[in-house]
Amino acid sequence: MSYNLLKGKRGIIFGALDENSIAWKTAERIHEEGGTFVLTNAPVAMRLGQIKDLAEKTGSQVIPADATSEEDLANLVAQSVEILGGKIDFVLHAIGMSVNVRKGRSYTDEKYDFTSKGWDVSALSFHKVMQSLYKADAMEEWGSIVALTYMAAQRVFPDYNDMADNKAYLESVARSFGYFFGKEKNVRVNTISQSPTPTTAGQGVKGFGGFISYAEKMSPLGNATALECADYTVTLFSDLTRKVTMQNLFHDGGFSNTGVSQEIIERFTE
Ligand code: NAI
Repeated sequence: MSYNLLKGKRGIIFGALDENSIAWKTAERIHEEGGTFVLTNAPVAMRLGQIKDLAEKTGSQVIPADATSEEDLANLVAQSVEILGGKIDFVLHAIGMSVNVRKGRSYTDEKYDFTSKGWDVSALSFHKVMQSLYKADAMEEWGSIVALTYMAAQRVFPDYNDMADNKAYLESVARSFGYFFGKEKNVRVNTISQSPTPTTAGQGVKGFGGFISYAEKMSPLGNATALECADYTVTLFSDLTRKVTMQNLFHDGGFSNTGVSQEIIERFTE
């Protein structure tokens, strides 16, 4: 169902790799709600992914940008304002990658070059994106910026590895930049802490199958899907949430506040 919540709003969407991506579903929902946007992803992902199909479907342009490159980001911001015909109302940061996870290194056997690279891509890139927008004065008043995170920033999930530390940093950047963006430009910055979701990044986590079904059984409302995350993001980009900022917002069917569920107890009852 469409409510025209984003009619006339302009944005930038990072991280749509394929149709399972949370950013992909969000782009589709924003399009339905009347928003226009530029799609962006790392140049290498663009060759692997199907982003052009999404661009066609939503009438969008694609601008490649490595989110760790200040130069790419400055170019992306300048071009987006030009293409969209004005300042930016919404930005979605949906980027994550751990080299340690990819190479099968455990948390107690990190290779620090890998750690730095993963941190740059997954966490510092959020600061870089916001600083690029801020310095170019490219955000519209009462605009909204969202990044996606996971609860491993607060509680231990052993196989989430160094991504847990990256997410803790990402959430901190949202708070800190949210202060400056709020004070000076009336722009809000939040993170959505999403349920485990079967995407390329999600399935890269060791034991993801067990992880997602455990979360499903622990959450009173069940896991939140990628489409439901897209819906929630639309509300945060709309004018209905103008005073929500510097928050880490759990979108997890109640998982984060559940100690144990009946289903889990039953599994362990002799
Ligand atoms: P995905 O694999 O579809 O998206 C990750 C994206 O990051 C890809 O499009 C990839 O190309 C992009 N990326 C990687 N390096 C980049 C770089 N240097 N510059 C620009 N883009 C780059 O997976 P998903 O799950 O949609 O991930 C989106 C966000 O949601 C990530 O931040 C992830 O950590 C977060 N998240 C995912 C959950 C899950 O279970 N799938 C749960 C909670 C949060």
